[in-house]
Amino acid sequence: MTLQSAAAHLPPDAPPGPWFHNLSLPDGAGGVLHTAPDHPLGDFPRFKWEAIEPHLPADLSGAHALDVGCNAGFYAIELARRGAAVTAIDHDPRYLEQARWAAGRLAEAGALPANPPRFRQGSVYDLARPTPDEPERFDVVWFMGVLYHLRYPLLALDLLADRTAPGGLMVFQTLTLPEDDSNAKAPRGLGVKDPSNVRIGERAALRAPGWPTLAFIERDFEDDPTNWFLADAPACRAMLRSAGFEIAAEIPEQEVFLCRRRSDGDDNDRLRDEECRAATGRLDRPGETAGSLSDLSSGSPSAWSVTEESNE
Ligand SMILES: C[S@@+](CC[C@H](N)C(=O)[O-])C[C@H]1O[C@@H](n2cnc3c(N)ncnc32)[C@H](O)[C@@H]1O
Repeated sequence: MTLQSAAAHLPPDAPPGPWFHNLSLPDGAGGVLHTAPDHPLGDFPRFKWEAIEPHLPADLSGAHALDVGCNAGFYAIELARRGAAVTAIDHDPRYLEQARWAAGRLAEAGALPANPPRFRQGSVYDLARPTPDEPERFDVVWFMGVLYHLRYPLLALDLLADRTAPGGLMVFQTLTLPEDDSNAKAPRGLGVKDPSNVRIGERAALRAPGWPTLAFIERDFEDDPTNWFLADAPACRAMLRSAGFEIAAEIPEQEVFLCRRRSDGDDNDRLRDEECRAATGRLDRPGETAGSLSDLSSGSPSAWSVTEESNE
C-alpha cells in the first residue's frame, strides 16, 4: 500500500511504520501524538470520517459493527466511541499491531469506551465462516478502501451481504475511476432497447458512456501490485445492488456509498447464494458431506441504518 507516513517521530515502543491512519493519541505529557502527521492525503482518515459520520446514528449502543480492513483502527475506534460493539479485522498483522498499540495508549488515558474494539487477524474471505465468538450478522459493516485490493471483488461483496443484518448499514468506499461529464449524464444502458436484458447483437452498447465499468490492472497501480480493479461510480452502484444492497446515500467527493442490506429477496438471490457457497466450499451437493454451514439466509432485521435518505 502506498500513500503512507514513515512516522519516524513515534516513541520506541510504537510498532514499526509506515502508518496509513493518522491517529491522535495522548503523548503522555498532556499533548497529542499524531501517528501520520505528514500523510500525503492530509489528516487521513479524519476528513473522510467527518464527511460520513453525520449520516450515522449518533448512538450505536447495542449495535454490532464489523470493520473489514481496519488498518490502524481509526474507524473501529470511532464506532466504539459511538457505543457499537466492534469486531475489526485486517489480514496484515503489522496494521493490527498498530491498532492494538494505539487502542492501548488511548485506554491508558481513559480515552476509549468500556467496550473497546476487538482486533483480530482475518481476511474478508474468512467471513464465509463465522467464528463462534462473533455475531453471524452485523448491524453496521465498514468496508472502506479494500475492494480494489481484491482479486475476487464480487465474492467479497456477496460475503459482506451475507454478514449484514437485513436493513443493516454498510459503508463502502473504493478507489474509483474518474468519470467524464458524458459518463455522469448518460443513462445506464444507453443505446440498448432493454438494459435489463442486452441482446448479443447490442454488445457495443456495453462500451457506451454510462455503462458500469471495471478497469483491470494487471501490474502495479501507484507502485502497488495489490491494486487489481478500479470501478467507476455506476459500477460501484451496480455491484452493490447485485450483492443485495440498496444505496441510501452517496458522498461522491469521498467515493463513499452508504448502503442498506435489502430485507426482501431479489432475482439474484439464489444465483448469488449458490455461487458464493460453491466458491467458499460451502455448497451442499446430494451425496456429499455438508461443510460447516451456518444458515445466513434468515435473520431478524437490524434496527441500525443510515439517518439520511437523500443522495447528495
Ligand atoms: C487502503 S487500506 C484501507 C484502510 C481502512 N479501511 C481505511 O479506509 O482507511 C486497505 C486495508 O485493507 C487491508 N486488506 C487488504 N486486503 C484485505 C483482505 N483480503 N482482507 C482483510 N483486509 C485486507 C490492508 O491490510 C489495509 O489495512
